[in-house]
Amino acid sequence: MKRFITLAALFFSAHFTFVVNAADVGSPADMSDRYCTTCHGAKGEGNIAVQAPRLAGMEGWYLQRQLENFREGIRGTHTDDLQGIAMQSMAAKLTDASIADIVSWVGAWEFVAADVTIEGNVNRGRSAYQICASCHGTNAEGNEALGAPALAGQNDWYLLTQINNFRAGIRGTHPDDSFGAQMLAMSATLRDDQAITNVVSYINTLQK
Ligand code: HEC
Ligand code: HEC
Repeated sequence: MKRFITLAALFFSAHFTFVVNAADVGSPADMSDRYCTTCHGAKGEGNIAVQAPRLAGMEGWYLQRQLENFREGIRGTHTDDLQGIAMQSMAAKLTDASIADIVSWVGAWEFVAADVTIEGNVNRGRSAYQICASCHGTNAEGNEALGAPALAGQNDWYLLTQINNFRAGIRGTHPDDSFGAQMLAMSATLRDDQAITNVVSYINTLQK
């Protein structure tokens, strides 16, 4: 609940800041949806305080799909998915034009590898990662043809949350979420919290 209030407060202050800025610089209307940095960090580096992940360096095709999924309620509508629900309400009013604007805006941000915040058994993680590599790539660089995003450089705390969300069926269970369903099946290969920490620790070593 406390986190919810923080998110709401952040969002409203973001909106207020934007209104002030817009008056200053006379930004065109189609940029009015660029409030993302309030939660995702000024440089898109992610912000653990509100559990919002790094966007800087994210592939345009993956960013677009997630925004569309949030907007359609394919992601971020499970009752236990508090962070997803917070993001869903941010995407609900985006138009196709504003999503295209955001994809090119975020695409111009510099890649920032996230700080390492967790420690696990890297050797065990490397073994566990071999199956992941078939979709996410040997260096966790992502694979557009398979719809699997890059994992290298993403905030490790966010990777942990998402793997746990898939395992719990909080993400990837919507009937229209075919990519999420594939990942949900794969998340079952990680048996417990330690296995998840290990694989994410290994992914941390793949940072550019
Ligand atoms: C109120 C805070 C807030 C704002 C404002 C916000 N987000 Fe988010 N966003 C989040 C949170 C929290 C998550 C993590 C959701 C989860 O855990 O599933 C998230 C997740 C995402 C994801 C999923 C990333 C991934 O790797 O799967 C994308 C993409 C995203 N946000 C883009 C945006 C964009 C673009 C904007 C601006 C239009 C925006 N967000 C505005 C809080 C916010
Ligand atoms: C069969 C292909 C496949 C395999 C194997 C696979 N994944 Fe995925 N993974 C995906 C797809 C597709 C997505 C994107 C889901 C979506 O669009 O919501 C994804 C998403 C993710 C995400 C969420 C990223 C984000 O930014 O939100 C994480 C974390 C992840 N995978 C980790 C792993 C790990 C760890 C393994 C190995 C245990 C693994 N994946 C194996 C296909 C796969």
